[in-house]
Amino acid sequence: MSSPSDRTRLIASATRRGFGRRPVNPPLERASTMLSDRAEAMRDDADGPVYGLDGMTAARELRAALAGLEGAEGAFIVPSGLAAVTVPVLALTRPGDEVVTTDAVYGPSRRFLSRYQAARGVTTRFLPADADAETILAAAGDRTRLVLLESPASLTFQMVDVAAVAAGCRARGVMTVLDNTWAAGLAFKPLAHGVDVSVQALTKYVGGHSDLLMGGIAANDPRCLSAIANAIEDMGWHVSPDDAWLALRGLRTLPLRYAEQGRSGLKIARWLQARPEVSRVLYPPLPGSVGHDLWARDFAGAASLMGVVMKGGNEAAGRRMLDALTLFGLGYSWGGFESLATHETHQMAYRDHPPALEGELIRLHVGLEDPDDLIADLERGLAAFAG
Ligand SMILES: Cc1ncc(COP(=O)(O)O)c(C=O)c1O
Repeated sequence: MSSPSDRTRLIASATRRGFGRRPVNPPLERASTMLSDRAEAMRDDADGPVYGLDGMTAARELRAALAGLEGAEGAFIVPSGLAAVTVPVLALTRPGDEVVTTDAVYGPSRRFLSRYQAARGVTTRFLPADADAETILAAAGDRTRLVLLESPASLTFQMVDVAAVAAGCRARGVMTVLDNTWAAGLAFKPLAHGVDVSVQALTKYVGGHSDLLMGGIAANDPRCLSAIANAIEDMGWHVSPDDAWLALRGLRTLPLRYAEQGRSGLKIARWLQARPEVSRVLYPPLPGSVGHDLWARDFAGAASLMGVVMKGGNEAAGRRMLDALTLFGLGYSWGGFESLATHETHQMAYRDHPPALEGELIRLHVGLEDPDDLIADLERGLAAFAG
């Protein structure tokens, strides 16, 4: 019998037997203090968590489900997607080490590298966001301890041959960490492609309802898992029971939301690509778009986040466009049920190698609304941009 799909397994982990009569979802246990009956049992892990930081039932189930999704030996949850990036980078580097990454990484991940890590004596080389595997591997020198990847890239959506980078790094004794938020642990499986640590902002598609902040970290190697566990313990980066409970609930319907949003995303990307106001749609699932070949080779699905490079315009035109939209909310983040639009041209200035764009850069997150209604909304937005 073939093994069940992610869609089935994420639900079957809730209905498994052997626990007697119980609710489908674990109880929401809000706890810092845990009480024991006898003094000798107070520190016995076999009786369950000793203290709130050990994680209540929902956190434990969430970690197990994430490990299953990632095909990992172990998974951790931390208080934000940003922490999911910073924790393994911190855990796996020492002063004197170098990190190699690209302009592709999420802005605050970059800030952590160039501010906190630099102060710790860990330097970072930022390559252009379109650096290919060969360029990344050539940049790894004697001090390089870790390569941090994000594919597709934040905001500009370039793809990299992750398996080639991971294999080259492994041969050189360099660790790899991939921010896999766009694929949500579903469309791309980093560990199966040789990556050491797969991370994602659970804030986005897993939470799915724009009401929690959390990150997930998954790995196979026991030394790597214990370095990450120690960093979480040492720094006290734990997650509240309410958030763990919400994320676990989101996880059950993740594959359906992701697939539907991806379908709408592609429909909207195709429509935008044909519009005279638009120069390029940055969306790897779209044939002809940046990164399409690697996406088609490696990915089993599409997220619903894309960049739209306009033909010319200026900041005022970008703002006019956003203000004219009535269905797209104006707000940061993505992966929730609602469509969102942001204006991102100014973010290019922070890059070591700013790309030459033909015009304003707008980021769209496509939610679960009817895509035809979203297209009508975008039509209003494009008219305002042009006008
Ligand atoms: C690619 C990527 N990684 C990580 C994060 C960080 O997630 P959080 O907002 O939960 O810190 C984001 C947030 O936008 C993101 O886009």
